[in-house]
Amino acid sequence: MTNAKIITIDFEVAKNIITNDDLTKILDTSDEWITTRTGIKERRVIDGDENSTTLGIKAAQKALKRAEKRGIKVEDIDLIIAAASAPEDVYPSVACLIQSAIGAKNAACFDIKAACSGFIYAMETTRAFIKSNLYKNALIVATDATTKFTDWTDRSVCVLFGDGAGSMIMCATDDADDIIGINLISDGDCGDYITLKTQGKNCPLLNDMTEKVKPFIEMKGKDVYKFVMHTIPPKLEELLETTKTNVEDIDYFVPHQSNQRMIDALADRLTIDNSKVISNIEFYGNMSAASIPVAIRESIDNGKIKLPAKLMLSAFGAGMTGANAIITLDKEV
Ligand SMILES: CC(C)(COP(=O)(O)OP(=O)(O)OC[C@H]1O[C@@H](n2cnc3c(N)ncnc32)[C@H](O)[C@@H]1OP(=O)(O)O)[C@@H](O)C(=O)NCCC(=O)NCCS
Repeated sequence: MTNAKIITIDFEVAKNIITNDDLTKILDTSDEWITTRTGIKERRVIDGDENSTTLGIKAAQKALKRAEKRGIKVEDIDLIIAAASAPEDVYPSVACLIQSAIGAKNAACFDIKAACSGFIYAMETTRAFIKSNLYKNALIVATDATTKFTDWTDRSVCVLFGDGAGSMIMCATDDADDIIGINLISDGDCGDYITLKTQGKNCPLLNDMTEKVKPFIEMKGKDVYKFVMHTIPPKLEELLETTKTNVEDIDYFVPHQSNQRMIDALADRLTIDNSKVISNIEFYGNMSAASIPVAIRESIDNGKIKLPAKLMLSAFGAGMTGANAIITLDKEV
């Protein structure tokens, strides 16, 4: 059976750095509150005409450049999936816009929406396409510019987020599967824990059009916290069991970068040694679906992740959704 090979991972983050102290100029908050509750010190924020598509294009170009060294050309890309939950436009899809920018003329393109879990959802979708022999060379781009959808007067939300994009190229192989296992979680009953509502009314002949819906993220922070702690650890344990993996054999644990307290609590529950836990939330905040690929690439580049390696990934977000993965990365990634 055809397997999936992870060829490369890359990322792009917004250039502007906004520190906690900067935020005190526009909000009743403090570096102390944000740091102790979240571990975040600064975040990257887009400006001007930047958006999740422009970030995604740059992340895709970087991954392609790396992939070329492994013999994959842009014409070989036959599938592009963008995990883009809060895109600039409803359509065209972010994946189509990336296709056009990079010239991947032979690719089928579409977006998926699983909020912060989107990167792993896209990996699982890609793997299924590869395993069924429908597509051979896929580009995944997980991109979110969440700061466009945060109310900058809502201190309980806007301090948490930053903007970035992560990219991965995954190809068909006859060698061993780099995706050892993935499990996906969804619970629509908890849909109101994190929302981003954009719908207004339609026809003025039929509706009162004076009510305007603000397209801002709203979050029940404590409920999100409880959902994650209740739902994710048993599914991580289940994944270890179904893939017959001992937790000691995991070289690195890369959780979604949402809150340092959540990262620590998940690592504790898994009894993973702190030295194996990847965290860069201090410098980026929560970059939604981009968090995990950014953390992986950056940690490879700064030597924290040494390849080859077996990684356990864990993400969660609006939906509510969750997703866990065990993957291997070779030395050339
Ligand atoms: C958001 C989060 C850090 C808030 O921490 P918390 O301990 O639950 O804080 P609360 O919401 O209870 O707020 C406590 C107080 O701090 C205040 N507060 C909220 N944000 C603040 C800020 N940025 N600065 C200062 N005070 C703030 C609140 O107004 C509240 O004040 P009050 O007690 O006078 O009402 C925490 O709930 C969390 O991290 N949840 C998970 C969210 C998440 O990760 N979402 C994304 C998942 S993909």
